[in-house]
Amino acid sequence: MIDVSEGQQEVFLAIAREFSVIMAKKNYGRTDIVRDESSPTTFYAVRHWASASAAEACHTDPEVSALTTRLYQMATVTHVVNGVRRAGPMRLVAPDRRARGMEPDRRSGFDRRSNDDGRDDGERRQGERRVGPRRLRGRAGAIDLVAAARRARENAHAEFSHFKVGAALQAADGSVIAGCNVENATYGLTICAERVAMFKAISEGHRAFTRIAIVADTPTLTPPCGACRQILWEFGGNLEIILANLASDEATHSLQTLLPLPFDARLL
Ligand code: THU
Repeated sequence: MIDVSEGQQEVFLAIAREFSVIMAKKNYGRTDIVRDESSPTTFYAVRHWASASAAEACHTDPEVSALTTRLYQMATVTHVVNGVRRAGPMRLVAPDRRARGMEPDRRSGFDRRSNDDGRDDGERRQGERRVGPRRLRGRAGAIDLVAAARRARENAHAEFSHFKVGAALQAADGSVIAGCNVENATYGLTICAERVAMFKAISEGHRAFTRIAIVADTPTLTPPCGACRQILWEFGGNLEIILANLASDEATHSLQTLLPLPFDARLL
């Protein structure tokens, strides 16, 4: 995502054109520039590399470095790479932009506006209650993620543990993707609410996320299990984790504090 300084849009587009020419000339791949219709100074640059070695060559290309230097003088650039936000000086976005869900979805997902709060399109079993879509935005217009997680929890399939969990994951474009735990008679095939939400989101094309709310009916708030922390980290990076119960208890953590020394794709 590129946040261009006020009045510098034409300069940015000229740099983007130069960059596209280099990408094509040197067979690095191509870049698609997409305008954010709701913000005249925001653009998305989606790079499609010809190959991993082309990406590497481009990153060390002095012509490209000169262009990037010019770009950084008039824009704030947020890189999202394979679902892992690149740490370091290149990530200059103000944290409140992330909280407002303004970071782009890595691929085509940034333009997905559909809210998903747990509707099931399949047949209902007789006597089973499914919870369909409901309002997600509170009175102030902010997305009520905990409420979405509470509703998702109602769909939990927890016949064996009777421990129902709901999760609601917020994607960078503001979409909410909900999940509940789904248990299995062989126990080991059980999947937690958080992973259901994340896998649903990935399967729908979302690639960048800001927050997840997790709700269980326990006086002590239920944190995500180790497997879920790993999956959340891998696809969501340092997410904000909101824990809540059916009373009004709530606590917020960052995933990094819950998973301080993570293993991820950068180590491969
Ligand atoms: N569970 C979750 O869905 N999320 C958590 O954060 C903790 C545990 C589920 C898995 C299983 O269905 C039940 O809770 C009991 O472990």
